[in-house]
Amino acid sequence: MSLEQTSRFTQPEFNVAKICADFPTLTRSIRGKKLVYLDSAASSLKPNQVIDRVSEYYRNEVSNVHRGAHYLAEQGTFAYEQAREKIATFINASSPSEIVFTRGTTESINLVAQAFGRSFFEAGDEIVLSEMEHHSNIVPWQMIAEERGCKIRVIPMLDDCTLDFAAFEKLLSNKTKFVSLLWTSNALGTIHPIERYIEAAHRVGAKILVDAAQSISNLKTDVQDLGCDFLVFSGHKLFAPYGIGALYAKAELLEMMPPYQGGGSMISEVTFEKTTWAAVPQKFEAGTPNISGAIGLGVGIDYIEAVGIEAAAQYEHRVLNYATSQLKEIPGLRVIGEAPQKSSILSFTMDGMHPSDIGSLIDQQGVAIRAGHHCCQPLMRRLGLPATARASFSIYNTFEDVDLLKVSLLKAKELMG
Ligand code: ALA
Repeated sequence: MSLEQTSRFTQPEFNVAKICADFPTLTRSIRGKKLVYLDSAASSLKPNQVIDRVSEYYRNEVSNVHRGAHYLAEQGTFAYEQAREKIATFINASSPSEIVFTRGTTESINLVAQAFGRSFFEAGDEIVLSEMEHHSNIVPWQMIAEERGCKIRVIPMLDDCTLDFAAFEKLLSNKTKFVSLLWTSNALGTIHPIERYIEAAHRVGAKILVDAAQSISNLKTDVQDLGCDFLVFSGHKLFAPYGIGALYAKAELLEMMPPYQGGGSMISEVTFEKTTWAAVPQKFEAGTPNISGAIGLGVGIDYIEAVGIEAAAQYEHRVLNYATSQLKEIPGLRVIGEAPQKSSILSFTMDGMHPSDIGSLIDQQGVAIRAGHHCCQPLMRRLGLPATARASFSIYNTFEDVDLLKVSLLKAKELMG
């Protein structure tokens, strides 16, 4: 085999320097120090490709979609619908009409809870969640459960920070109407074997929603292969703008569900006596949508596809492993959550220091992490902690970032005496 031929089969080195150059925020200094951004689980940074495309839209292409009779409106509609197609291809939906644009994961879950729940939940039905859920995958279900007289059942977490699958199976019965689960925990990084949960939920005839907010950027997502009924995610964790996200739902479910909001665009015909609905997915997109956000999300998807989801996950894993070993060398630091399957999220506590103090002290050194309950109060209660400090890593983080995190934590520890 010639050299040329071999190179085609050789996995290229993950070019983190090239990736970093795409993210302008990384050139900032914070409080006179190089920014070390370790909060990608809350929001990923945005590459120039996304920023430029969104600016270009506002500079040259502004127009409303699905309405105008002019060139720009046609072009805008094309770009908006092209973004929907990109999402459908990215998660392997069987058709772009299975993708509804929303404001993000939270709105997607509320849409399903309200539209599906109000029509199909009956008194006595059970909705299964887990102890690890984000508030956005608890509160919408509580609201509809109260309205419809349903009961929430909770899958417990085991001490190794995985979910108790056997307990889940015991919770399932013919009363189970719905299961809603996150794929990757935003607070601990645990990745659940979601296929097993989907299969078990379907065995008792329940529908299942997968909250992919935290997994979408680093786990290959194939909704047809998974067989889930709904899957939701946000753009802002996928290198894309805020205020845009998506709901995937099987076509027949979107057809069955009534609209979530009323307004322009989602109708077929309006009279004061009766209004009929537009076809899916427009039925669920009342009002002028976030057009620039959708286009930006399409570019965010192009970006991660060019990097490669598997390559991204492997690289982030190496950074996570290095960070875990380095931080464990700090006396009094305890890593919270070391499930065997983990994404690049590292929660920790330090003896004698509140997580908020850790966050503030290392912020003085330019290191950005999140500290708090991570919108997971039931999980924190289960862990017996008020909060954790959380460093989360993305494709633009380096081993040097980890070293700077470690140094900043040692300094913070010194300052706290
Ligand atoms: N859910 C996001 C986080 O975990 C905001 O930080």
